[in-house]
Amino acid sequence: MESPHKPKALSTNLFFLFLLLSTNLITLFLSATFYSSSSCSLSSAAITLIPSSGRDSSSTPPQPLRTTQSIASTDEEEDLPAEFIAFTSGQVLPFGFNTNFDSDKIYPPVGSSCSRFPEELRRFMSYEVNGSCPDDELLAQKLLLKGCEPLPRRRCRPATQNHCVEPYPLPESQWKTPPDSSVVWTAYTCKNYQCLIDRYIKQKGFDDCKDCFDLNGRERSRWSSSKTAPAGSLDFTIDEVLSLRAPGTVRIGLDIGGGVATFAVRMKERNVTVVTTSMNLNGPFNNFIASRGVIPMYVSISQRLPFFDNTMDIVHSMHVLSNWIPTTLLHFLVFDVYRVLRPGGIFWLDHFFCVGDELRDVYGPLIRSVGFRKVKWVVGRKLDRGEELREMYLSALLEKPLDNSW
Ligand SMILES: *[C@@H]1O[C@H](CO)[C@@H](O)[C@H](O)[C@H]1NC(C)=O
Ligand SMILES: *[C@@H]1O[C@H](CO)[C@@H](O)[C@H](O)[C@H]1NC(C)=O
Repeated sequence: MESPHKPKALSTNLFFLFLLLSTNLITLFLSATFYSSSSCSLSSAAITLIPSSGRDSSSTPPQPLRTTQSIASTDEEEDLPAEFIAFTSGQVLPFGFNTNFDSDKIYPPVGSSCSRFPEELRRFMSYEVNGSCPDDELLAQKLLLKGCEPLPRRRCRPATQNHCVEPYPLPESQWKTPPDSSVVWTAYTCKNYQCLIDRYIKQKGFDDCKDCFDLNGRERSRWSSSKTAPAGSLDFTIDEVLSLRAPGTVRIGLDIGGGVATFAVRMKERNVTVVTTSMNLNGPFNNFIASRGVIPMYVSISQRLPFFDNTMDIVHSMHVLSNWIPTTLLHFLVFDVYRVLRPGGIFWLDHFFCVGDELRDVYGPLIRSVGFRKVKWVVGRKLDRGEELREMYLSALLEKPLDNSW
């Protein structure tokens, strides 16, 4: 979802570029620096997901047992926080070898990059066992966005408000601003929902989904017209998309980087269950989504989708998948979308954006390489930051073929 703000200082831009690397909501905040770093061909893509360097204990060969029933640590692990080692070390199965696991041990997973950030990891894993966790959402999110995803589990209770109230009941909850007490505000510039609602008007500068918390604003009308979009429009409507399939056969789906989950709410009104992935970039997006009564999922765009192959009826993503994502990562990501869609499933790529010839030279071929069938493909100019930037939008409906989709 967009926010029509001009680029600011270079350092600020780089900061946001970093944040965006795993964000839920890409916006128009892209500097010239940024464009030069976005690769224009698959073969020249410079950034690749790097596999584990082997520092994490999950790749440590099994060691002799200690009486603690966990696998002995290696010298390399000595620098890592004790709770991190306690979580990730191999744990011996009490009943011995398990044929499902093909092992007699479990190595609980964390992002392979966690140990690359020992200082943040040490802070994140420093807490009183059985006690209260530190109020450290921002630290946790930065660690996650850098590649420590999934984060390690912790043995402490997360920060919460002292006094909480029950949520509003459905269906009222879907379009009502939740109580402020449902959020721990420490990590955000705003300290209450009214501030988030007002920030589009009152606050300068960039924020992801800056106007999204105002449920009486633009959120009201998104995707919801019952008419088909006029030819050439980049804004498809939900009903138009659902009408591609027999009534009731689009039942479950995923919205990648879905802001405040208005897409999921609109789908729920049509009896479709949609899970919304989101980060909490300077706003309590996950709390807000949950308060509305739909399902938030706190995973970044870097992580393998936690769904099985061939299961989803629909995957939607607006303003997130774009040229800010390293091309190799995007290629893996679009294949992952294909993987979780069932044959006959629909990928609604909503307002993908890039510059000039990138669509023809990079992203068109990339999408074609995955195996989707084009159902609808609309390209338009993106003019909100000026014509000279030669920005383009693509909205597309892509189908995973019912037959021979393997
Ligand atoms: C935390 O609780 C577990 C389970 O009761 C106990 O074994 C452990 O000793 C406790 N640890 C601390 C530091 O209190
Ligand atoms: C959704 O399901 C309910 C209960 O089965 C039904 O009454 C309602 O008509 C359905 N709504 C739509 C839009 O299909």
